Amino acid sequence: MANTEGGISTIANKAPPKSFLSAESHATSTVAVHADDILNASADVAPALHVSTTFRYASNPDDLVSTRDLKGPLPNDTHIYSRHTAPNSTRLETILQPLLHAPCCTYSSGLAAVHAAYVFLKPRVIANGCGYMGCQGVIDMHQKLTGAKVVGLDCAPEELGKGDVVHLETPFNPTGEAVSIRKYAEKAHAQGAYLLVDSTFGPPGLQEPFGLGADMVMHSGTKYLGGHSDMLCGVLAAQRDDWVKTLREERTYLGSVMGNMEGWLGVRSLRTLGLRVERQSANAEKLVNWLYSSLHRESPDDENASGKVVQKGVMEVQHASLQHKDMEWLKEQMPNGFGSVFAITMQTEDLARKLASRTKLFHHATSLGSVESLIEWRAMSDKMIDRRLVRVSVGIEAYEDLKEDLLSAFKSLTDGSAE
Ligand SMILES: Cc1ncc(COP(=O)(O)O)c(C=O)c1O
Repeated sequence: MANTEGGISTIANKAPPKSFLSAESHATSTVAVHADDILNASADVAPALHVSTTFRYASNPDDLVSTRDLKGPLPNDTHIYSRHTAPNSTRLETILQPLLHAPCCTYSSGLAAVHAAYVFLKPRVIANGCGYMGCQGVIDMHQKLTGAKVVGLDCAPEELGKGDVVHLETPFNPTGEAVSIRKYAEKAHAQGAYLLVDSTFGPPGLQEPFGLGADMVMHSGTKYLGGHSDMLCGVLAAQRDDWVKTLREERTYLGSVMGNMEGWLGVRSLRTLGLRVERQSANAEKLVNWLYSSLHRESPDDENASGKVVQKGVMEVQHASLQHKDMEWLKEQMPNGFGSVFAITMQTEDLARKLASRTKLFHHATSLGSVESLIEWRAMSDKMIDRRLVRVSVGIEAYEDLKEDLLSAFKSLTDGSAE
């Protein structure tokens, strides 16, 4: 009997089964609910949670095929040891594949996925700019291990060579503003480098980076894909099967697989991804619009008292929907909305520190992409940030309630009524 626990093998690293549904043949919402139907082996409509770390081989000795003798992949949903593959995360990958337009590999967290990307791509130069500081931490570790050079996103093209990486986060943390994927794909490809897109802020339904030139796409599945603030997950996708095969093999040794519970929660979550993202993004755009027009109203009168209140407390609002001069490429890149995250810069640090204590619906917490609205005085988790900045992640609550909640928080701060 083959012992595969310690070694990379075709058995252990088989790709998840391909669904008969695809993003081309069916709408995303249908794919999210049915792409894993091919894995239904029991009458359960809701998939089971499998907790086993190890799986029985065939009981008939004649049916045993040793690793060395195995010619093709194992039958659907056959597993050996859960550091290789497991039923719940395989089901999640089966649904993600058509949603992401590429085969993919799941990880224990977004940063575990970023780390796996660098182990696989082994760049000597990384161009990195805007975005989440945690990814910079992973890049620092890659630099420590390999001596790789880190340059700015807008470095001279000659600074990049064959096999190097342009690391692009868009929309980016913490403002929710976006940069052009196509522009950076062209820059990378002209030098033989790869474009790695962190599309965490632009989940399926909002942004499709492969269509714009990405070579590899990463998601922190902890955010929109999970969507309920209850699971950590990372995803790497690539349109080259050979890349994903190697990612799978390397994941066996990195050991950074998702937990079974998280895989199960992920499947539960993807069913409603489209509905959630559409609602969150629309809510955010309406809130941003309201704040922006309040801020830029020249003489806020009584009829629009909210204008006065906003102007007293807020200095600036940032979100991709406000990138008016970029709308031509932005509408191509994000045709269905710009995501739920935006930033408010308050007039003073003191107002920014207090704002979250005055909201009732927005929880004061980090993270984003979930059904509940979050607000964070960003200095709580980012050392480098402007201390007047507050990051908002909008949930699926009713827009009017969220607007009212923010407005009464601004009022209580600026007229001191809740001091
Ligand atoms: C853009 C972005 N990428 C990656 C990550 C890391 O994801 P995780 O927390 O799942 O490791 C985050 C987390 O906030 C993020 O915002």
